[in-house]
Amino acid sequence: MIQIPKGTKDMLPSEAYLWHTVEDTAREVAKLYGFKEIRTPTFEHTELFARGVGDTSDIVTKEMYTFLDKGGRSITLRPEGTAGVARAFVENGLQGGALPFKAYYLISAFRYERPQAGRLREFHQFGAELYGAASPAADAEAILLAARFLRELQIDDCVELHLNSIGCKTCRARYGEALRAYFRPHIEEMCEDCRSRFEKNPLRILDCKNEHCKRFTAGAPCMLDYLCDDCRAHFEELKGLLEKAGLPYTVDPRIVRGLDYYSRTVFEFTTDLIGAQSTVLGGGRYDTLLEQMDAKPTPAVGFAAGLERLLLVMEAREVPLAERVPDVYIAGLDKESREQGLLLAEELREAGLITECDLMDRSLKAQFKYADKLGAEFVVVIGEAERAEGAAEVRHMRDSRSERVKFQEISQYIKGYYRRT
Ligand code: HAM
Repeated sequence: MIQIPKGTKDMLPSEAYLWHTVEDTAREVAKLYGFKEIRTPTFEHTELFARGVGDTSDIVTKEMYTFLDKGGRSITLRPEGTAGVARAFVENGLQGGALPFKAYYLISAFRYERPQAGRLREFHQFGAELYGAASPAADAEAILLAARFLRELQIDDCVELHLNSIGCKTCRARYGEALRAYFRPHIEEMCEDCRSRFEKNPLRILDCKNEHCKRFTAGAPCMLDYLCDDCRAHFEELKGLLEKAGLPYTVDPRIVRGLDYYSRTVFEFTTDLIGAQSTVLGGGRYDTLLEQMDAKPTPAVGFAAGLERLLLVMEAREVPLAERVPDVYIAGLDKESREQGLLLAEELREAGLITECDLMDRSLKAQFKYADKLGAEFVVVIGEAERAEGAAEVRHMRDSRSERVKFQEISQYIKGYYRRT
């Protein structure tokens, strides 16, 4: 039997309601902030990610699913959503439209990583992007949207907001020099990746997962000490806004993020409930991405949350979630009664009741067992006598009480019961 590829997961019908809870919450919260959905292709030209996400990031250097299509073009399954949204924003002429432009997405993304709990090769993200606003208020709105989303999922008490500023090109160049000066005496002892990062993007060294390298990164200079006046003022204003909005945060100078496009604000919501893959949501400002893609410079900020990780946190936190059970199960005692059951089921569904009926010619006992397994609230039994009378016993499964109700009145009877309780 062919098995599922490593690092991927089936979402089974029995857990669909969990996914729907997260997705529905994402849509509702995004709507409250005026974000509308955008859908972009699952694959893009490789060049988009190489330029956008950045050719010194692990994602681009090691983790992309890249292949040549039959026309010989280099194509990549999207490792994240931001670059595709940026491309769509420019390509569809939205830079000239009403700003700020606000869009959200629910997507699957692909990274060739070593799978473990909370880390998959195909995973899912809820992301939001805001273009055109350079003010700290836009960063605040993105962060507040993210926080409200986590609050609506009832996991705000087990996640923490970590915030940092990685400055602009000018202050990062100064910081890069300071990092080079700091790492220069140790660089020969560090991993191959760090040696290449040293030349291309020394900030990346701070993100190295190698235990040996981490020993050197611990005492490295801090980006916040190198911020230029404008970047510092931006960061201070953002912190002030979050304080006024009552959202607690921790300034964490260690956050550099795994993608190269960020400038100024970066943030992550982390938890200690789900092991090593503790970041459930990450984002930041990326004011230079559009010009890197040869488009008119446009300030931008956004975030993405990993749905699998959110579900792990909700499970660990035992967030009470209940699936809606069938309202009615219609049991049939013979062929004609089953047929009648099928038609009655259609009437009840027309009235908005979740209804199931026997499709397997089971015995009455087996049908009751199945109805019980489904958790159906009511069971209606139809036999020859019921057909003749045009009425059936409607049994309430919780207390086993039943009442004789005319077929055409069953939907009203059940709805009336729900209204009373
Ligand atoms: P990211 O930090 O690479 O940022 O991913 C965002 C979130 O996706 C992570 O915090 C994590 O929850 C989830 N995630 C990432 N990789 C995996 C994986 N292999 N398995 C399971 N979950 C994963 C971005 O993707 C940026 N595009 C976010 C952004 C939007 N920045 C600005 N706008």
